[in-house]
Amino acid sequence: MKLFLDSANLGEIKEALESGLILGITTNPSLLSKEPKGSYLTHMKDIVSLLKKDGRNLSLSVEVFSEKPEEMFKQAREFKKALKYKNLAIKIPVNYKGQSYLGVVRQLSDEGVMVNCTACMTPLQLSMAAAAGARFVSLFYNRVRDGAKDTEYEAVRKEMLEKKDIEQADFEPNNVLREARALLAPYPKAEIIAGSIRSVLDIKEAGLAGAHIVTASFKTLKAALTHFKTDHAVGNFLNDFKQWCA
Ligand code: E4P
Repeated sequence: MKLFLDSANLGEIKEALESGLILGITTNPSLLSKEPKGSYLTHMKDIVSLLKKDGRNLSLSVEVFSEKPEEMFKQAREFKKALKYKNLAIKIPVNYKGQSYLGVVRQLSDEGVMVNCTACMTPLQLSMAAAAGARFVSLFYNRVRDGAKDTEYEAVRKEMLEKKDIEQADFEPNNVLREARALLAPYPKAEIIAGSIRSVLDIKEAGLAGAHIVTASFKTLKAALTHFKTDHAVGNFLNDFKQWCA
């Protein structure tokens, strides 16, 4: 399992790169909306500058912000041209309100643009995105779980369950990851990114269930590295050595 940082915050990105915690960065328009107002592209260029300074050519995923395929193509090509970053993936949602975006995924992939097909909730969405050529397919781990209980979607959930479009196990993200790994077997180049991570245990469980990559907030990544017994042991070593030197 590889760890990515899910953030658009320049301070966090700089610190995460320097700390050696991560092998990539994922962003989205909601994460960017938490940052000071400005130009989307300028902010992404600032992220790229940090990555270039880091020098490891780590993965960066940047999302389009349109629901129209022709605008998605335009933005994807513009990002690619303006950011000039080799390891850039363009995030394209799998669909929206019944409209498939897999044609965009297919065409961009055919043009040599790396695509991260995002907002997937089911094993079939993940495998269909991989079949369309996506290099990364992103599962929204906790939003999958929320789908079982969101009251506003009660009617549509019931209808989907009755029609057998989904089953109850489709709301269990670890099950989704296990099934997706089996369905993705014909597409070995596609890697599953588990996003929408809310705790340290989510990271471990998603990794064990089959996510190739888990992307999490800086706070959660730092918590994953922390243990009171590690602090205790290191404290002991330092104290013992100090006493020996005295
Ligand atoms: C992943 O690529 C997404 O940026 C992210 O993890 C979305 O999850 P959230 O909006 O539920 O936090």
